[in-house]
Amino acid sequence: MTIRAVVRGVGHYLPERVVPNSEFEALVETSDEWIRSRSGIERRYFAAPGQTTADLGTRAATAALADAGLTPEDVDAIIVATSTADFTFPSCATMIQAGLGMTRGFAFDLQAVCAGFAFALTNANALIVAGQAKRVLVIGAETFSRLMDWTDRGTCVLFGDGAGALVLEAQEGSGTNADRGILATDLNSDGRFKDILHVDGGTSTGKTGHLRMEGKEVFRHAIEKLAETAHAALDKAGLTAGDVDWIVPHQANIRIIEGTAKKMQVPMDRVIVTVQDHGNTSAASIPLALSVGKARGQLREGDLVVTEAIGGGLAWGSVVLRW
Ligand code: UT7
Repeated sequence: MTIRAVVRGVGHYLPERVVPNSEFEALVETSDEWIRSRSGIERRYFAAPGQTTADLGTRAATAALADAGLTPEDVDAIIVATSTADFTFPSCATMIQAGLGMTRGFAFDLQAVCAGFAFALTNANALIVAGQAKRVLVIGAETFSRLMDWTDRGTCVLFGDGAGALVLEAQEGSGTNADRGILATDLNSDGRFKDILHVDGGTSTGKTGHLRMEGKEVFRHAIEKLAETAHAALDKAGLTAGDVDWIVPHQANIRIIEGTAKKMQVPMDRVIVTVQDHGNTSAASIPLALSVGKARGQLREGDLVVTEAIGGGLAWGSVVLRW
């Protein structure tokens, strides 16, 4: 008997305020045309003052539980992938646990920046396969608008806020790659590249700090590493790119998404794209895209899904799962 971590429910939440590219034209020297053509982004959402990352995550988790037909008491563990926890501690995950009214189980944050959801899925899968938890809420929740330097046109136009969540459940599989659930994962990091994408604040400075990025360098690494990690995960599952129904990539830049799909020889009509509507929501982008992909009718039970993401660290990874 093989235990598989199977997606039982999915949901997301976006704040009310939609911010079109045109708003940035008054802030920095930029244009809607530049942002669209260089990144594919048309709009993003910003959290309201006082609306926390935990608030967004709680709403996404509530939607995922409703989709699964479960209550918070049915869940054994919560993992929150975030780089924008509202406080140094407690974790965003325990705040969401309280927000859901859940009084059992355990909850913790996981920090791997934009690759966070791939890392969180891998850890949730390990908990389930090891018999440590039967159901895990895996949440990506971010308020990157709070890390922006509004005078830096190279970054402030790219990021947005939001949250997405999956309920993973232990189910019996046959042990073949025809099973539903997580089939393989591949994680990587290389701290030598820590400076090309970082936040210049934290406990060492006493200030939250701002996101700093050498965009071109990160772009170069993304193009090189994303197809590689996706192929590595597919290989571990005994599958190839030809078996893929949907690539659900981290949504940072349409040119990176297209470049990776091309390298994998997967046509763009098999890629779920939300970057135009959400901007880069870091660890929230993949669960948001999964939730939107299901709502659009793109993702169907039995489809083979490959997620891939890269971000600060650098950290990057991929998860292959059958929906
Ligand atoms: O989620 C974590 C991973 N992050 C990413 O994957 C982001 C990776 N990087 C990127 O997506 C792209 O590198 C960017 C969208 C950030 C930038 O696109 P690019 O084609 O690499 O542009 P660039 O940085 O080479 O800049 C080209 C020009 C520069 O002007 P000069 O030096 O050629 O005169 C920039 O100053 O565009 C300028 N520029 C802008 N112009 C108008 C940079 N930002 C803007 C802007 N509006 N917002």
